[in-house]
Amino acid sequence: MNSMNVLVLATRNPHKLEEIRALFPFPDLITRSALDYPEIPEVVEDGATLEANAVKKAVTLAVATGAYALADDTGLEVNALGGAPGVRSARYAGEACDYAANNRKLLAALQGAADREAQFRCVIALAWPNGQAQYVEGVCRGTIGVTARGTNGFGYDPLFIPDEGDRTFAEYTAAEKNACSHRGRALRAAAERWGGLWARADR
Ligand code: IMP
Repeated sequence: MNSMNVLVLATRNPHKLEEIRALFPFPDLITRSALDYPEIPEVVEDGATLEANAVKKAVTLAVATGAYALADDTGLEVNALGGAPGVRSARYAGEACDYAANNRKLLAALQGAADREAQFRCVIALAWPNGQAQYVEGVCRGTIGVTARGTNGFGYDPLFIPDEGDRTFAEYTAAEKNACSHRGRALRAAAERWGGLWARADR
């Protein structure tokens, strides 16, 4: 097997794996995930930016496996909070916090705020086995609601109302969310930018 036909996805999240695989339908391409390489330690996401974390994860996996690797990092950037929680979105309410604690902290931080504009930003990096990397991003703009609504999705979805409508992401179906979400947009940009690597014979 030619290792340049292999793309390692730097995630253990089955939902993300399925989403990425659906957007990379190249017949010659074999996708693997971090689950297939248990011997490679999980990367510590300590970068100052989403770009730094995505590149770090992708490069670590590509160099360790000798194959292409794709990694993503997402943050919720809130205008009135100067872009926070941003790169710290997963740990906003503390190192071992859960989604509900993050949402409570966000609502408290925005109590009485007139400006509730926010955006999800997803950065996707592709790394080559020689350690070289490139990245693309996808953005979804919206506002932060005053109460949590809906039960679908995860993370900040019950608070995030995309500009496209008046429902929260947690009130969208998965298909509706993919069509306009930061990750959907970033993944489509990634497939457009790098798909040629697996559609050509001369890579
Ligand atoms: P990750 O980089 O995809 O792991 O995302 C980091 C954090 O951002 C997650 O722990 C969630 O809190 C938040 N997040 C990422 N994507 C979404 C989303 O699509 N909806 C809601 N929250 C998200």
